Amino acid sequence: MALRNIMEQGEPCLEKHCRPVTEFNEKLHILLDDMAETLIKANGVGLAAPQVGILRRAVLVLETNVPEGQEEYIIELINPEIIEKSGCQAGPEGCLSVPGVFGWVERPEKVRVRAQDRNGEWFEVEGEGLTARAFCHELDHLEGILFTSLADHIMDQDELNEYYGLDSEDADGDEET
Ligand code: CO
Repeated sequence: MALRNIMEQGEPCLEKHCRPVTEFNEKLHILLDDMAETLIKANGVGLAAPQVGILRRAVLVLETNVPEGQEEYIIELINPEIIEKSGCQAGPEGCLSVPGVFGWVERPEKVRVRAQDRNGEWFEVEGEGLTARAFCHELDHLEGILFTSLADHIMDQDELNEYYGLDSEDADGDEET
């Protein structure tokens, strides 16, 4: 496995529609393994292939809603689509490609995604809360959409402090995807 460079806002690869993955081969597996290493190193909750310069429909999302004592795990989603959404959440959202910036973004509270795994098998997975937000955020990357274009406003430090001060469980603020 190897770390990949994370592209930052302004790079053309972050503004492009990505093409479907058609070959479920070793090249894809290496990309996914590298993306996982890159995501973990960056301490993010999601990463999309275009963020490492690959214009293909592949994303990773870290499932953080796990029972106490169990480890968080990475979900690999190839050619994903949202097939159901419900509820609404609004809160700070960040992105590894826009470091240090958080915006107030509304997302569904719950989403169901259909995708292929690294071997091409179709499956469905549901996400809630931060995981639902990450699914939506990563799928947007595949359309060349960054959260900054969806945000009601970009949050300044005072607003972030106030938000996390009121909700100290989330005070680590590592919600960059
Ligand atoms: Co992002």
